Parts: sequence; structure tokens; C-alpha cells
Amino acid sequence: MPPPGESMNASEVDLSVQIGPLSLKNPIVAASGTVAYGDEMRSFLDWSQVGGIVGKTITLKPRKGNVPPRTAETPSGLLNSIGLQNEGIESFLARTLPAMRELKTAVIVNIGGFDTGEFSRLLDALEKEDGIAAIELNISCPNVDDGGMFLDRDPDEIRSLLESLRPMTRLPLIVKLTPNVSDILIVARAAMDGGADILSVANTYFGLGVDWRTRKPIVAAGTAGVSGPAIKPLSLRHAWVVASNLKAPVMGIGGIMNAQDALEYMVAGAACVQVGTANFVDPGVCAKIVEEMRSLLAEAGVRHVRDIIGTLQMPGGDASPS
Ligand SMILES: Cc1cc2nc3c(=O)[nH]c(=O)nc-3n(C[C@H](O)[C@H](O)[C@H](O)COP(=O)(O)O)c2cc1C
Repeated sequence: MPPPGESMNASEVDLSVQIGPLSLKNPIVAASGTVAYGDEMRSFLDWSQVGGIVGKTITLKPRKGNVPPRTAETPSGLLNSIGLQNEGIESFLARTLPAMRELKTAVIVNIGGFDTGEFSRLLDALEKEDGIAAIELNISCPNVDDGGMFLDRDPDEIRSLLESLRPMTRLPLIVKLTPNVSDILIVARAAMDGGADILSVANTYFGLGVDWRTRKPIVAAGTAGVSGPAIKPLSLRHAWVVASNLKAPVMGIGGIMNAQDALEYMVAGAACVQVGTANFVDPGVCAKIVEEMRSLLAEAGVRHVRDIIGTLQMPGGDASPS
């Protein structure tokens, strides 16, 4: 770091990062379910400026998703229960993946299965494809209430899923954890023990919005996932707990709206971050965060963003508030 006062040009800042086996040109990745598969965003965003994109969860069969309304705003976040609407793997490979490959950013395919067999078939289909940087496993979507996705809070199930999937692919495997557990280290450790390369920390929090006049929930499916600024301190702590205790490569996710938020996650130990709800506020936000990060780091005299990862000086342990 140069002495205080020595100025650095923003263009001199190196934003490249290494997250386990995955190399990214910068640490800003668009989160699953918030940018579709990138194509629709092209008039707002130059994807080549962004570190990566995670597509919406793909399942084996197409899914219509839940009935509307599927999202609702709260004072500091978003409630959603989309129900994994997607075109299914066959159509994804034929129609959508070819367009994703043209985005000139790291393409991360997010998949969701209802049992190990479904995850295996999805991985098998993706294994033959070029132009995929990594696979993210959605084991933690809280919106599906039909017998699947039960494994997100069960460490034995997570470990055994990873043990089955790890030998099937050459691609880095990212496990997206649920934050809806009392100790995230238990599920994080299970995923790493099973062979995960990277952990995404974390998905949405269980929540509920109610219209007291109609006596109905404001999202039609009932309970929903909470995202956005409301969850930032919660997921920031989860990312710190996982990164500092397991030394696992972490992608931090939750409430990141600007470069300041992203840098906070990286200081807490995340090697890169994913940006979700902010894309609904401004579809060009990911590229703006990259530029803002460059300026903030130049101002602070930090030449390589990787130098700030995990530099949080925590005075004590993981204290409970009281
Ligand atoms: C409308 C919406 C749809 C989402 N769909 C998915 C999905 O299909 N798969 C997934 O793994 N996460 C999904 N997520 C979760 C986000 O990827 C992210 O983990 C979460 O929103 C927290 O980040 P944020 O606070 O920046 O939005 C969705 C989030 C929202 C708001």
C-alpha cells in the first residue's frame, strides 16, 4: 500500500480474484434469479465488465413456478417466492446456454434437483458443454414445498450429495448454503467435507408478509424468502463465520447494493460477492459496482483487491448481542 496521500489512478487497481479453482476478472458476480440468463440485461449492462453471472436455477423438467404475486417489497428488502420457474435443462442447453456463452463473463450455471439422481443427471448433461466456468448447486431454495430441497439443513445429506456429485464433473462445484440454520458452520463443513470447492453464503431468509385486511399473505405462496439490505448484517456475519473458521473459498451474498457493501464482505473473508436484489433497482448496477470499487480502492491506496480479503480485525470471538 502506498504511503497515505500518494495518489493512485483507478485504472491501476487490479480487481482480479481467485476463489478456490475459479479465476474471475473482478469480484462482482450477478446472483441467481435476479438477472435471468443475462440476455435481457444487455441494453443496460456490458457483461464483459462484470466478473460473472449465475443463471436462475435450472431443474431437470420445466417448472411454471408459483402463482402471482410472487414478490413484494418491504421497507428494507424484498420478499419472493417464485417457485423455481425455469425452462428445464433440455431447453436451457439448446436455447439459453449458447447466448450466455456470448456474454464475455464467467458463466456459472445454477442447478436444483429434488434428489441426488436429479442432480446427477443435470451435472451429466452440463459436463459435455463448453463455456461453463462453474456449477452452483441450489440446495437451499426455501420456496419449494413439494418434497424436494429438504437437504439444505441436513449435514449428512449435504455431505453425501457432494460425495456423489464431486467425481462426476471437472467443473468447480459451488454449494449455495441456506442461512436458515442455527449454526451455518455445520452445513458449511459438511459441504466442504463432501468435496465442494466454493461456498456461496447465503441464500434468502425465511420471511412472511401479511395483509391484515384480507387476512392473506402478501406473496401468494405464503411464506417467502427475504433478500436485500435488510439481510446484509446477517449474511455478512455468516460469510465471516464460514471464511474465518473453515478457510473455505466463500462467495458473499446478501444485501449488496454498492461497492462499499461488496468491500465489507471481502474484508470479512469473502473472495468475491454476488449481487441480487440490487439488480431490480438498477439493472446496470453490477458494472457500476465494479467501477465504484476501483475508485474506492484507488482512493485508499489498495492496488490489488485480493489484499483486503479476510483482513477484518475482530476484537473478540463471535459474540452474541446483549
Ligand atoms: C426474485 C428472486 C429470485 C431468486 N431466485 C433464485 C434462484 O432461482 N436460485 C437461487 O439459488 N437463488 C435465487 N435467489 C436468491 C439470490 O440469488 C440471492 O441469494 C439472495 O437474493 C440474496 O442476495 P441479495 O440480498 O443481494 O438479493 C433469488 C432471489 C430473488 C430476489
